[in-house]
Amino acid sequence: MEAIKPKFGRIIATVVVIILLLVGVVGYVGWYNFFREVPTYYESPEEHWKYGSIGAEKPEGVPYWIWMVLPRVFPDKLPGPGGYASLGAVWEEGKELPIGFTKKTIGFPRVGVNCAVCHTGTVRTDPKDKPTFILAAPTTRFNGQAYVRFLFDAANDPRFTADTILDEIKYNYDLSLFDRLLYRFIIIPVTKKALLKQEETYTWMNGRPDWGPGRTDMNPFKLRVLKLADDGSIGTTDVMALWNQKAHEGFLRHTDGLNTTLVESALAGALATGASRDSIDLESLQRIQDWLMELPPPKYPFDIDRTLASQGQKIFTNECATCHAFGQPRTGQVIPAVEVGTDRNRTDHWTQEAADAFNEYAANYTWDFNNFRASDGYVALALDGVWARAPYLHNGSIPSLQDLLENPEKRPSVFYRGYDVYDTEKVGFVSDGTQAEKVGFKYDTSVQGNSNQGHVYGTELPSEDKKALIEYLKTL
Ligand code: HEC
Ligand code: HEC
Repeated sequence: MEAIKPKFGRIIATVVVIILLLVGVVGYVGWYNFFREVPTYYESPEEHWKYGSIGAEKPEGVPYWIWMVLPRVFPDKLPGPGGYASLGAVWEEGKELPIGFTKKTIGFPRVGVNCAVCHTGTVRTDPKDKPTFILAAPTTRFNGQAYVRFLFDAANDPRFTADTILDEIKYNYDLSLFDRLLYRFIIIPVTKKALLKQEETYTWMNGRPDWGPGRTDMNPFKLRVLKLADDGSIGTTDVMALWNQKAHEGFLRHTDGLNTTLVESALAGALATGASRDSIDLESLQRIQDWLMELPPPKYPFDIDRTLASQGQKIFTNECATCHAFGQPRTGQVIPAVEVGTDRNRTDHWTQEAADAFNEYAANYTWDFNNFRASDGYVALALDGVWARAPYLHNGSIPSLQDLLENPEKRPSVFYRGYDVYDTEKVGFVSDGTQAEKVGFKYDTSVQGNSNQGHVYGTELPSEDKKALIEYLKTL
């Protein structure tokens, strides 16, 4: 008996070691396949802008292979041919993902979005041309609402199963047996569930006007990030240009001046894009901001009549400069909505309650929000790169500069957004005619939040002066 005891002890010890090893291996395999983060680093700030992660893949990313095959499994849920391009995603030739889409491995590769999905414009001279990309311009084409709706529609469909999806993946890529098992029993069912859960945080969209391409609603801040009660307000708003930030220092941020700083607007942008307080990539955001500080506004890519433009400069100085020229006291500041007279919905939507909630939101983090506020109007921005910011005003309700300088009754009450061929006559994107109607979203100014009234500055000028003024605006 005496001799057996130590032997028995050794057996116990061995079993414990084996169990620990097994737990360790299982733990490691689990960690490796679900949580291991592989950072991707893009040397150039432009590539980082287009494809770099801001930390959205963990909370809201879609597994890469599922993302890749969804348009082929559910072409019936897309508005047209071309996969994600039919939702306005823009592809550089030879790239794996469209601009603004990121691929990051967290256990397995996942696809998220970044700032560039909304803040990258395109322009073409002719429908047959390939688009030129304008980094940090507001997108003309991308429809973020249609994109999330596509994902939710797919998740709701009975065809969203491991069989269908793995069959489609098989045409593109040989997943290892282990990966196939992971996809079949964990990744696909969990993704379906996660999308359906995410859909619940977007139900408020269904009772509100559609945004169309190039616009969002501010409600994701209030309802998804801050989780405030739904007050029914409509916050549809046009995407803004982000270049030239050094020259914008001291400007109030966002269309209604809801924050005083770039850094907090960028952090908030990342939260609305799908990053969480814990996943947000601060270093990535810092790189983006440093780059935006120096990024010049894009030059008007067509001819400019310099003589006419210099006549226009005088008109600008008389009629517009007090609110729109750099260095003027009202530039970058809020002009009350009652004064500028444009649609009130967006400014009324953002309340002091929302601002207070935001200022509390990250109180326990190394970064923080302190500068959110509410306002009663809209920021009069400098007009740098204004040619690429069409359609105009905070809600994107006026397709061209020529239309902006018309009396509100003469501005188009219905037009099409989302077509990126440029109209050098009116100065804005082509917004009517067969092609624009075919690819565009019908923008109806009688819908709540879409009014094109107000901002009547310059509308009484003689038509010669308007022409000269528009020529000058092209040079900014
Ligand atoms: C889903 C589309 C979308 C994405 C993605 C997005 N933004 Fe925006 N961004 C907007 C819209 C729309 C506005 C204007 C909203 C308003 O205030 O009415 C805006 C405004 C801004 C502004 C204010 C600009 C100014 O001059 O006041 C900043 C700064 C900004 N975004 C930065 C970012 C950054 C940085 C990211 C990525 C982390 C990002 N955004 C991602 C849609 C987007
Ligand atoms: C009293 C101040 C004021 C004056 C004067 C003024 N504007 Fe504005 N402007 C604004 C405000 C405020 C906005 C934003 C309104 C909104 O988005 O609802 C704006 C918006 C614009 C925009 C849209 C910018 C964009 O990115 O969508 C353009 C273009 C513009 N103004 C041109 C002009 C021109 C040209 C003149 C002179 C004929 C002029 N403005 C005179 C206050 C002014």
